[in-house]
Amino acid sequence: MVQADKKPRKSEKPLTFDLNSYLKQQKDLVEKALDRSIAIARPEKIYEAMRYSLLAGGKRLRPILCLATCELTGGDAEMAMPTACALEMIHTMSLIHDDLPAMDNDDFRRGKPTNHKVYGDDIAILAGDGLLAYAFEYVATQTKNVAPENIIRVVACLGHTVGAAGLVGGQVLDLESEGKPDVTAETLSFIHTHKTGALLEASVVSGAILANAPQEDIDRLSKYAQNIGLAFQIIDDILDITATDEQLGKTAGKDLEAQKATYPSLWGLEKSRVKAQELVDSAIAQLSIYGAKAEPLRAVANYIVTRDR
Ligand code: FPP
Ligand code: MG
Repeated sequence: MVQADKKPRKSEKPLTFDLNSYLKQQKDLVEKALDRSIAIARPEKIYEAMRYSLLAGGKRLRPILCLATCELTGGDAEMAMPTACALEMIHTMSLIHDDLPAMDNDDFRRGKPTNHKVYGDDIAILAGDGLLAYAFEYVATQTKNVAPENIIRVVACLGHTVGAAGLVGGQVLDLESEGKPDVTAETLSFIHTHKTGALLEASVVSGAILANAPQEDIDRLSKYAQNIGLAFQIIDDILDITATDEQLGKTAGKDLEAQKATYPSLWGLEKSRVKAQELVDSAIAQLSIYGAKAEPLRAVANYIVTRDR
């Protein structure tokens, strides 16, 4: 491994971390594992609906973070893959439900018609439920070479993350804040840290738990994740204003239309960009102790602020 602070000798070619090939390689690995994770059974329709959204593409950032953190803290990709897939199942189910007419009423996701547009509201609700339940079953039954108490810690962490203390709570406050002109920065931060940050944090923390990392590492990596989580959502809100439908694979401009509280609506685009960059800098500062080994996590943090989709 190349040390970040070690100057290469003239004859040595400096090794730079290639983020694009890393993300592509990890994404391919995750896509294959996701494809294998759910087979079609009876009743076919529900399995098809679950697979339709799960295999519709996406950045696969949560699984990639889980694998990277597990590897950084001494584990390997094989022990983290079932949890990595479960994180994507949970993320996908949250988007299926978020897109329903009772919530954001969106027609496109990941460049395709949303689950309820293809299968109807009833099956879309059940596809989300099916993915959520299966995520927990998958971690519990498929995780190999990890101490049982650490598998239980991961299951507890995921449960806490998706429930009222995490995604569900953040989504409720998000819906309640729609159309309100006086949403405070504190409420906005609550929405973002719960609705988006919580699952990104769980992705990082679960990878470290699976590797049996000491608590100091888990705490440090949690701070990294909290910072990139908030930055991720700020950039999401900015892209909703600045990017096209084609870039995003979903309808752009929906936040404004639904009068959603966002950082750009509170602070404007420029201050929001500055804030996102500051958060990424703080996230990267948490990684200094790991040297070059943390290059994938540094690169993912940088990708979060530079992405255009
Ligand atoms: C997208 O936000 C939505 C989320 C990040 C999470 C939504 C959470 C739920 C629907 C709760 C799901 C239930 C469980 C049990 C986990 P957005 O609407 O700001 O982004 P978008 O433009 O991509 O839709
Ligand atoms: Mg939405």
